[in-house]
Amino acid sequence: PPVALIGAPTDIGAGHRGASMGPEALRVAGIAHALEERGLQVVDRGNLVGPMNPWQPPKAGYRHLDEVVAWNRSVADAIYRELGQGYLPIMLGGDHCLAMGSIGAVARWCTEQGRKLRVLWLDAHADFNTSVITPSGNIHGMPVACLCGYGPRELTELNGPAPALRPDQIRQIGIRSVDPGEKKLVRDVGLDIYDMRYIDEIGVKRAMEEALEGVDADTHLHVSFDVDFLDPSIAPGVGTRVRGGPNYREAQLVMEMIADTGRVGSVDIVELNPAFDKRNMTAKLAVDLVESLFGKSTLMRE
Ligand code: ARG
Ligand code: MN
Ligand code: MN
Ligand code: MN
Repeated sequence: PPVALIGAPTDIGAGHRGASMGPEALRVAGIAHALEERGLQVVDRGNLVGPMNPWQPPKAGYRHLDEVVAWNRSVADAIYRELGQGYLPIMLGGDHCLAMGSIGAVARWCTEQGRKLRVLWLDAHADFNTSVITPSGNIHGMPVACLCGYGPRELTELNGPAPALRPDQIRQIGIRSVDPGEKKLVRDVGLDIYDMRYIDEIGVKRAMEEALEGVDADTHLHVSFDVDFLDPSIAPGVGTRVRGGPNYREAQLVMEMIADTGRVGSVDIVELNPAFDKRNMTAKLAVDLVESLFGKSTLMRE
């Protein structure tokens, strides 16, 4: 299908300013051209608009809750509209709180279409905090919990009263930073987490085979790509760096194996922070990996 790029220039959910510059950095790194070279038709819808970052401390465990709600409404509406018009939406973030809006819309659309949804969450972090257990109040640490129904109603009911996702629809890959209360919660809900230790032990190939098990012709795959998934030595341009992530080859293999399913239906690229980057290298790397996610490979493959 044709691809629609949707910029969501905000850092409203993050603990550092600068992810709001992510959409433009990805454009400067040539994301549209790279996808066109893959043979895709690409339209860039430009940027959504939303409230400024008021840079306030947390209130009742949440930082900027009203502004996060406003941005996510706008993202959800935009993504839902693209899916309805037959486009494959790529949300250019922005911080990871925006995945509540994008995945919420994708989940609603899949339910209406009777399609199965599988979410691949590529991240250093589980993003499964709540207002009670969060160490920071930053809502970019909470989107997976909210999508599963753990969070404030304003966010858990963005796309209707039922939770957008069941934990069994999610596979998290690359995880290496989970807060103490969050550890207990992800275990209690049974979230399927391919953490770095597991990947070190069994390798990317087997881990991805497991994460993609059961993906079939009626599955819509949503890839939520938090750029801090990558090892910070190759991807310094993020606000929350955690060492020990996938290297360049491992990250390529993750993307290539997802591409091989042929089932990618929507994508988020989030947490890119040009204020921490060096000559846009992290944006260029993200574009390079997105090429692989859309099927670029060295040789012709069957
Ligand atoms: N776990 C930390 C927190 O909740 C960091 C979350 C980072 N999330 C992200 N999407 N980069 O504050
Ligand atoms: Mn992260
Ligand atoms: Mn994240
Ligand atoms: Mn490339």
